[in-house]
Amino acid sequence: MDAPGYVVNFGPGPAKLPHSGLLEIQKELLDYKGIGISILEMSHRSSNFIKMINNAENLVRELLAVPDNYEVIFVQGGGSSQFSAVPLKLIGLKAGKSVDYVVTGAWSAKAVEEAKKFGTINIVHSKLGNPSTWSLNPDASYVYYCANGTVHGVEFDFIPDVKRAVLVCDMFSNFLSKPVDVSKFDVIFSGAQKNVGSAGVTVVIVRDDQLRFALRESTSVLECKVQAGNSSSYNTPPCFSIYIMGLVLEWIKNNGGAAAMEKLSSIKSQMIYEITDNSHGFYICPVEPQNRSKMNIPFCIGNVKGDDALVKRFLDKAFELNMLSLKGHRSVGGIQASLYNSVTIEDVQKLAAFMKNFLEMRQL
Ligand SMILES: Cc1ncc(COP(=O)(O)O)c(C=O)c1O
Repeated sequence: MDAPGYVVNFGPGPAKLPHSGLLEIQKELLDYKGIGISILEMSHRSSNFIKMINNAENLVRELLAVPDNYEVIFVQGGGSSQFSAVPLKLIGLKAGKSVDYVVTGAWSAKAVEEAKKFGTINIVHSKLGNPSTWSLNPDASYVYYCANGTVHGVEFDFIPDVKRAVLVCDMFSNFLSKPVDVSKFDVIFSGAQKNVGSAGVTVVIVRDDQLRFALRESTSVLECKVQAGNSSSYNTPPCFSIYIMGLVLEWIKNNGGAAAMEKLSSIKSQMIYEITDNSHGFYICPVEPQNRSKMNIPFCIGNVKGDDALVKRFLDKAFELNMLSLKGHRSVGGIQASLYNSVTIEDVQKLAAFMKNFLEMRQL
């Protein structure tokens, strides 16, 4: 039974945080670990902050078994600044300044728009099919893809074999939702606001031999080499977001790590897909089963385009029942349920029960 007033946030990010983490933040807000000041006012050069940021880095390393030859850095600017930082760092690896982008949704398309400013883009149109059918350019400086398309709810359940090309991955919305073999990548980047914390900090994991190069036009703040060389404090880091991320990483560790998150994600997403698939066309998930995201589940109601009146009624009723942020992305419409790490099985059971009930009421 829910506590009275218990609200579930199914938003695509910034997303739900673990309740225990929020309580910890509340407890420590005025006085961080007995030092008498808030983390919000603490210098990023102080020993307490350095201890905290090192702890967050070590947790990322431990939870993803990051090999020693990779740097883990925390930066500002979000995914959108990585869309520029990546080409600035890597597009000149080969003289042709040509790169391959696998475009499977809105975010990879946006990344292309930024990369275009720095070189030639080969867009590998793909429906997440077999990479052997992709038209990769052997002279590309790197291959770029987005592991989970937040807006359209499509997720790679494999790491593409790009034949030893430099591989860059936007892992924004499924980072630490499962174990990942980091050694297969050259660069991984992710915001914290989906699975590991709040908005404001972006985690970049980069193989150290990719630090050597950057275009001359690159700015210091976007250069991994500069940030890594200054322990993520070349400029003032997003201190509070890093603190929150540390708490969430600790929570992930205490709850079984990345492997446990993966198990839970499978159970949670299956609960919702089972309902859409058995609703005889009432709930329609537009994504092929093999490409479905375990993080973000989009569906229409009533017909393929979504019956506006039904969608509105669904959202209004869900809101009355304390389930928030189920509206699909503005470019897609319909409904979207985001089931990141902090969303519990009980939260999803509540949504599933509501979906079944809404369907039954419709059939009466
Ligand atoms: C997969 C993905 N990549 C990149 C971004 C862009 O992140 P930001 O809003 O921090 O620029 C988002 C944002 O939600 C995203 O979901």
